[in-house]
Amino acid sequence: MKYPCPPNLNIWWNMGSMLFVTLGIQILSGLMLSMNYTADSALATSSMNYILRDANYGWALRSTHMAGASLFFALIYIHVGRGVYYGSYMKMPHVWYSGVTLYLLSMGVGFLGYVLPWGVMSYWGLTVITNMMTVFPGGARALEWFQGGFSISTLTLKRVFVLHFLLPFVILGMSVVHVILLHNKGSSNPLGLDTTELVVPFHPYYTSKDLVGFVFMLVGLAALALTFPKITADPLQWQAINKMKTPAVIKPEWYFLYAYAILRSVPHKAGGLALMFAAILGIALLPTLAKWSKTQSMKISPIGEALFFVWVANFVFLGIIGSQEPAGAWILAGQVGTFVHLFCMLSIPIVNKKWEDLVFYEDGDYSFLGV
Ligand code: HEM
Repeated sequence: MKYPCPPNLNIWWNMGSMLFVTLGIQILSGLMLSMNYTADSALATSSMNYILRDANYGWALRSTHMAGASLFFALIYIHVGRGVYYGSYMKMPHVWYSGVTLYLLSMGVGFLGYVLPWGVMSYWGLTVITNMMTVFPGGARALEWFQGGFSISTLTLKRVFVLHFLLPFVILGMSVVHVILLHNKGSSNPLGLDTTELVVPFHPYYTSKDLVGFVFMLVGLAALALTFPKITADPLQWQAINKMKTPAVIKPEWYFLYAYAILRSVPHKAGGLALMFAAILGIALLPTLAKWSKTQSMKISPIGEALFFVWVANFVFLGIIGSQEPAGAWILAGQVGTFVHLFCMLSIPIVNKKWEDLVFYEDGDYSFLGV
């Protein structure tokens, strides 16, 4: 209640608490769904239909869980964007690293969850992604071990379900660590200036502000779940799996499309995988690249700010590319998008530093910033 906070936190500081609430909603709705779900390749689809048609409010739980997954990733992307724009990673590298871990875990859970309805995309998505293991030495053995045999079967679906059930609790624990680490130094702020001399208590200032965020978020979630429950889902998810017929376009949910576009940007399995990991894990390098910076927020770095918005626009562009058949001009577009993504992400901290050297005092007197 007495936790000291900067007085000028804007709405982009609301995402963390909203992520916590969404995680809670996902865990609760997931627990209730799992009571009627059957992880068996012969029964999974009919258990999903049972949930949607017969189980009491099963339709509402399932729609909430589906929309909640989209909401969770939307919040994560805004949360990370806030961190990059306002340079949060500079002040708190450990919070940042725990955040990157949370993102990776969330990607795992999101991917595994998509397999459970056992639709066409579940099957082929699982096939594409698990086959990536084969680029590593011993990968073919590891794949066989993961699948529980030479091909995807009930054994695979069971272990996917167990992991999808278990990992959100690891995310919950890790989120607590994330916030404990944050509370060591306290939040930074939109101006990136030192506010230790000027703080307000968390309650009532940010309890009330967080509540406003929850209201907007819950209204949005209800609107999405009750009005457009299938808006993000691929229609092929309503078709029975045919192992003999590969769909023309295999694609993940919207929140993985950017990474998928990068994975397919080069016609080389290991090369694509390496680029995808570089694109995802590249954000973990930001604290190191920004080690020498004194100023934090992009508000005082116009070129960095421009690069940030190009990075965001390119993220959307990559999402469009990821949803297309990789042919013709889309291949080139994917390569350009991959380059822009890596270039903007990694040059933002460097450009910030150069700008700082150019504009601020040459003798390194940053006392006016409180550093
Ligand atoms: C399950 C996912 C996550 C949860 C529940 C979570 C939760 C939170 C909460 C409650 C806060 C404090 C309020 C706020 O500043 O919004 C916070 C701050 C922060 N988070 Fe996260 N977070 C998650 C994912 C991430 C990710 C993926 C990253 C980055 C890669 C990240 C980086 C940060 C940083 C740097 C701060 C401090 C921001 C500042 O004060 O400037 N978080 N997080």
